[in-house]
Amino acid sequence: MNVNRRSFLLGSAVAARIGYGQTAQTVNTASIGVGNRGSYLLKAVLAQPNAKVVALCDIKPDRLDKAASAAAKDNPATYADWRRVIDRKDVEAVFIATPPHLHSEMAIAALKAGKHIYCEKPIGVTAAQVRDLVKAAKSTSKVFVVGQNMRTEGQLAEAVRKVREGAIGDVIMVKAQRHASADLNHTGSSADWYFDVTKSGGYLIEQSVHNLDACNWVIGAHPSRACGFGGTLLFKNDPPGRTIFDCGLLTFDYPNGVKMSFTQNVFHPRRMPNNNQMIYVYGTKGAVDLLDTVTMYPLARDVQPSLLAEKRQDPPHALIAAFYDCIVKGAPNPADINVGATAALTSILGHEAMVREKVVNWADLGVDL
Ligand SMILES: NC(=O)c1ccc[n+]([C@@H]2O[C@H](COP(=O)([O-])OP(=O)(O)OC[C@H]3O[C@@H](n4cnc5c(N)ncnc54)[C@H](O)[C@@H]3O)[C@@H](O)[C@H]2O)c1
Repeated sequence: MNVNRRSFLLGSAVAARIGYGQTAQTVNTASIGVGNRGSYLLKAVLAQPNAKVVALCDIKPDRLDKAASAAAKDNPATYADWRRVIDRKDVEAVFIATPPHLHSEMAIAALKAGKHIYCEKPIGVTAAQVRDLVKAAKSTSKVFVVGQNMRTEGQLAEAVRKVREGAIGDVIMVKAQRHASADLNHTGSSADWYFDVTKSGGYLIEQSVHNLDACNWVIGAHPSRACGFGGTLLFKNDPPGRTIFDCGLLTFDYPNGVKMSFTQNVFHPRRMPNNNQMIYVYGTKGAVDLLDTVTMYPLARDVQPSLLAEKRQDPPHALIAAFYDCIVKGAPNPADINVGATAALTSILGHEAMVREKVVNWADLGVDL
């Protein structure tokens, strides 16, 4: 395609979206799943100038009632069956915050019905779920945003940009972790799905998907293979029937030769140093502590460490605001289907390596991005 024709087509796509925004500034929005995350998202949606909440869905009546009260100013209809929400012609945008194993099926149906989607991470817990959703998202012009909210953290985004521009030379190794001092609450609101690996995918897929995405982002690639071990070392059959691991130790190999070591556990004592999340990025000229101090440490002995990016106050609900900007203004999408799919597949790759106890190749996952 020649450049002029391409610019013309891009221009008309943006114009079409702007036109849509001008004629319909209000985006009729529905929420499917209004538990912990869904109710936070609902609050954020209610604060958006372009959003009107027209429908809410949850299989738990108490949560549905609570959400309906929170959204009372918009007087939304309530449903227990998510398909009835998707069937509504007036619904233009759908937030999906159900347990992870349901995301792909719900998002595909909503995309096919012509809705814009904000889907919580991970977009799937199996490679097949991710593959099917990628296919659906790429065959429509509707906006698809995944809840990988680290992508809208300003300090992190600036640090990632500087590393990718060469602040520490070429990136050669990453050491990252997501450690917690306690297991997820065994009787909490998510306990009915979290400890079932077929529903949550386990800690690596459900939570480290954020950290692994940030690692891919700073490296500028996704891994080509992974190996490692994991298991349930402390919380054996606790809660009863548990099928998720409580720790994992993984090595990822990237196509550009970068190596990454990643660990996850839920028994890192609160008072012990380095409790929590960490991403150390090593380059040919120095290293960066990407998440905590955001400081660059040069390899040269005579150069002092320096701050790589200033801490800042991010706008509230930045990713949710970005979703509406994508719909109404045709703004750039900070967390599109490629981000969601790459993040989920990196986690699934690591999970498969631990479960199969062998090296698993990205190509074996069978998803074209
Ligand atoms: N981006 C983030 O930072 C972030 C933070 C927390 C959770 N999350 C994600 O949000 C999702 C939900 O997590 P949560 O902590 O809110 O869990 P939750 O258990 O509190 O909420 C899930 C809700 O989905 C409802 N649900 C289940 N099946 C349903 C169905 N078939 N139809 C309609 N509703 C259904 C449940 O009744 C529940 O209210 C997960 O994917 C999680 O990974 C993302």
